[in-house]
Amino acid sequence: MAEAVLVSPNCLDLKIPGVELEARKFPDGESYVRIPIPVEGKSVALVHKCYPNQDEGLIQLFIIVSQLRDMKAKKITCVVPYLPYARQDKRVKDGEAVSAETICRLLKECGCSELVVLDCHFLKKEGEFSYSGLKIRNLSMSKELIAKAKTELQNPKTQDLVITSPDVGASYMSGGKKMDKKRGDYNSSKKGEAVYRDIVELNAGFEARGKNVVIIDDMISTGNTMVKAVETLKKAGASKIVCCATHGLFLNSSLDKLVNAGASVFVSDSIQSSVSSVSVAGKLRAEGIL
Ligand code: R5P
Repeated sequence: MAEAVLVSPNCLDLKIPGVELEARKFPDGESYVRIPIPVEGKSVALVHKCYPNQDEGLIQLFIIVSQLRDMKAKKITCVVPYLPYARQDKRVKDGEAVSAETICRLLKECGCSELVVLDCHFLKKEGEFSYSGLKIRNLSMSKELIAKAKTELQNPKTQDLVITSPDVGASYMSGGKKMDKKRGDYNSSKKGEAVYRDIVELNAGFEARGKNVVIIDDMISTGNTMVKAVETLKKAGASKIVCCATHGLFLNSSLDKLVNAGASVFVSDSIQSSVSSVSVAGKLRAEGIL
């Protein structure tokens, strides 16, 4: 347990007890931060969100951590529920930046002793890792999400229930069951166009007829994965479908698309939305982080 908990103003919605740090703006838009308590010799947990406004959130994180180091904190644990750039963890085309490594390296260089994240895309399982020299603890919200999904489905009999991830990456969250997803090549590299690899195939790979299905994933971003998974399972005759994920970005009206496709949807409050109903703070407390 940390001796001091510092909470960024962008995390007040999580209702974590701690000291609010000052994060404001200079007139030109640059970030100003101030640590309002002495931290010398203390182990400090800093809770900070980096979404939305990922680039700004990360710059703030770097300067807060550097300042904690300058003030001689003994240990600096950064709790960043959703780690941005986590999907830029490999080089698909020559010359591409592996941004996830850069972010972690910079965080380590600023003085972060340990980074705590939730269902971080590039880690693919719960546990402790070293990535680009940074110590990372990856916690999974899967137990909490599945418990809520079962309640929504009124605790169906095991034989009537399937819990699956929509692809191999998040299969550690479902207990191993996964659908079969294939992405295509990058879209054209027209200036101004968002970089994206379309989903060209998504198959259930199991008998869905008459089943209640829980689809669990690390994140719902554009929602293309979840929407395709729901459509596939509906066509295959699934009964009720619950979609849940740790991080709900819900770009491109994807929440509406999922609901219109007949699914019920919820996520954790790592990112606030109208369906953020599973508490990150509860998880962090249960794990003894805070
Ligand atoms: C992919 O490997 C992840 O686990 C998610 O399935 C994916 O990132 C979701 O992205 P989108 O919502 O854009 O399909």
